[in-house]
Amino acid sequence: MSTHRIPVASVDLSGNEERYALDAIRSTWISSTGAYLDRFESEFAALCDTRSALAVCNGTVALHLALLGLDVRPGDEVIVPSLTYVATANAVRYVGAEPVFVDVDPQTWCMDPRRVEEAITRRTRGIIPVHLLGHPADMDPINHIGAVNGLWVVEDAAEATLARYKGKVVGGLSDLATFSFFGNKMFTCGEGGAVTVNDARLAKRMRILRGQGMDPQRRYYFPVTGYNFRLTNLACAILCAQLERREQILQARRRIYEVYNALLSAVPGVTLQPVAPWAELSPWMYACRIEPDQFGCTRDQLIGYLAEQQIETRPMFVPLHGLPPFREESSKRGEVLPVTDAISSTAIMLPTYNQLTEADQHRIVETIAQAGKSSLRTTGVSRRVA
Ligand SMILES: Cc1ncc(COP(=O)(O)O)c(C=O)c1O
Repeated sequence: MSTHRIPVASVDLSGNEERYALDAIRSTWISSTGAYLDRFESEFAALCDTRSALAVCNGTVALHLALLGLDVRPGDEVIVPSLTYVATANAVRYVGAEPVFVDVDPQTWCMDPRRVEEAITRRTRGIIPVHLLGHPADMDPINHIGAVNGLWVVEDAAEATLARYKGKVVGGLSDLATFSFFGNKMFTCGEGGAVTVNDARLAKRMRILRGQGMDPQRRYYFPVTGYNFRLTNLACAILCAQLERREQILQARRRIYEVYNALLSAVPGVTLQPVAPWAELSPWMYACRIEPDQFGCTRDQLIGYLAEQQIETRPMFVPLHGLPPFREESSKRGEVLPVTDAISSTAIMLPTYNQLTEADQHRIVETIAQAGKSSLRTTGVSRRVA
């Protein structure tokens, strides 16, 4: 078997990325205005089926801008899943508010709508469901709870650009949505993000806040305290080229998911990521669960073994409610999130990128199977994988 190193993620700039970036450089429009920026914002809004899209410098900033746009303030509470990347909760803290954590649904690994209502207090202002690992959250019941209780809803779609919920593309399913174009995402410009929105007043307010608070009618006059959250025309040149290839990228990744599913479903002790019947994944990062008793070793031992075999993987996100910045407040609220804890401690993310070959996938799954079998042959945990 080949032994070259397989990374967990890799960037694919094989289309017009270089040409458009060079074009932006030659035009000298490398800062935060220019034709590629306008083109990206209008194309991305159209793809997300929203009236506006605002390009910003990363997905964390996109969340921060969304919360500023919604006027979230110190003392407010925002309901978020605990099984997500830390940025979702960090952004809530940036505006002085408190993230309140709820459990996820075992059928989607996303925010469990049944847990949201019981987390609402007098201080709750909004809900941020996360479309985790490219799988959309169950938006209808979440939007319903939001509407009944007078709460806004923001989709954190950082990991799920172009995923679909009941046939509708994510981005316009609630009040606002935020996206990331970090290097490991489906579509990337290195570092980048976007906010999509239908409400024209909210879009206008966020545009002002993004650009240092400058009055759009009066240059260099600043009626509010704003931020520099802008993305460059140079980065948008790369994004435009990425979006041109969206169907090709989606297809390549869907194929990778299908191959992993087919191969891994034959490995004892491996459970695949569930996909709800109404979900169309944006295949961002393939994940599955390792059930130590049936598999033969733990997820972390498997990660160590794969690393020795030159295969890079990632553990699932550590639950946010247990992290030092959040655990004290979470424990005061008595948050107990068993589904989050179970998925977090057993799920592994496998290499997922456009150029990953089927031969590499065979090698990855064979190595996984080997780790499991070799563990089962010995008592307890294998010496090979320990
Ligand atoms: C769910 C989620 N939200 C927000 C972010 C933040 O995006 P960025 O890394 O572009 O700041 C990420 C990034 O990976 C994410 O996975």
